[in-house]
Amino acid sequence: MEQQLEELSKKANGELSSCEDAQALEAWRVAYIGRSGAVSELLRGIKDLSDEDKRVIGKNGNALRRELEERYQEKLHVLEKASSGRGVQATSYDLEAGVGHLHPLTLTMSRVHEIFASLGFIIADGPEVEEAKFNFDLLNIPAEHPARGEGDTFMVDPLSVNGAEGLVLRTQTSPMQIRSVEAMRLHPPFSVIAPGRVFRKEKVDATHESTFYQFEGLSVSETTSIADFKFIIETFFSTFFNAEVTIRLRPSYFPFVEPGFEVDMSCPFCKTGCKVCKYSKWIEVMGAGMVHPNVLKNMNIDPEKYQGFAFGGAIDRLAMIQYGINDIRLFWSGDVRFLRQFS
Ligand code: DAH
Repeated sequence: MEQQLEELSKKANGELSSCEDAQALEAWRVAYIGRSGAVSELLRGIKDLSDEDKRVIGKNGNALRRELEERYQEKLHVLEKASSGRGVQATSYDLEAGVGHLHPLTLTMSRVHEIFASLGFIIADGPEVEEAKFNFDLLNIPAEHPARGEGDTFMVDPLSVNGAEGLVLRTQTSPMQIRSVEAMRLHPPFSVIAPGRVFRKEKVDATHESTFYQFEGLSVSETTSIADFKFIIETFFSTFFNAEVTIRLRPSYFPFVEPGFEVDMSCPFCKTGCKVCKYSKWIEVMGAGMVHPNVLKNMNIDPEKYQGFAFGGAIDRLAMIQYGINDIRLFWSGDVRFLRQFS
């Protein structure tokens, strides 16, 4: 019987390598590791053996079944990758047979946590339903600012569209600057990072989602400067992309920082221009700036004595750059052909 097991193993492995599509693979699964497949049949036969043989053959038979199941999963993965690459419709899915794994956004977010934690940042979490006061007013965004309108913001309490009393789905993680200082009673020097989900009334397309993830950073001390910001952010992107990355700052305006800038990183994938950087060698990655004195005051921090930088970028965007994903909608699609590539 041991010999039979060996032969079965050889035959199954041989046939598996010649399965070229999902249908052939499914037929193989049924023939070998299905409920009435060859391995189960063989194991059913051990009841007539001696106790010792039962033990040995049972053990080896089960080991073979496990091995074949693993091979099956590997092959399934390979075939799916090949077919999704060519845009071919897969025929059927046995969801129960899949092994669970983390979502690409979760993987990216954990990496962001890990790197900033190693740079001395505290990780903070805060509410998705946010007071307009935190989302706008305390960040120096005045009542008449267009971003506060119903056109951009999901109102939870529509009666108070422009009032500080209102409730909104947060449009950015920036309110966490003030919340985390308040909640954790932070006193400078400190550095904090707050990743989380944000919501905007966007027209959804390949690069815009109404729900996505951002990470917000804030670092304050008596001496914090733009040079510190540059060092921290270059270290972050170089570690994240495992490449030597430099950043450049372009002047920009955000009400809660002064000066404010858009941050570009040098393309981590090329030196001369490629598809990812649209042949420009630079990729826009976040907004940032030196915290506005009014915002420091709103944190109960004396702007005469302390200064700091703040930044905010999108986790989805990082994941798209890293994994070469060209459509943001895939993240929420629940399409297993997409998701399984991250197992
Ligand atoms: N909150 C901004 C946005 O969602 C991003 C941002 C810009 C965050 C500048 C910052 C900053 O902290 O300083 O577009």
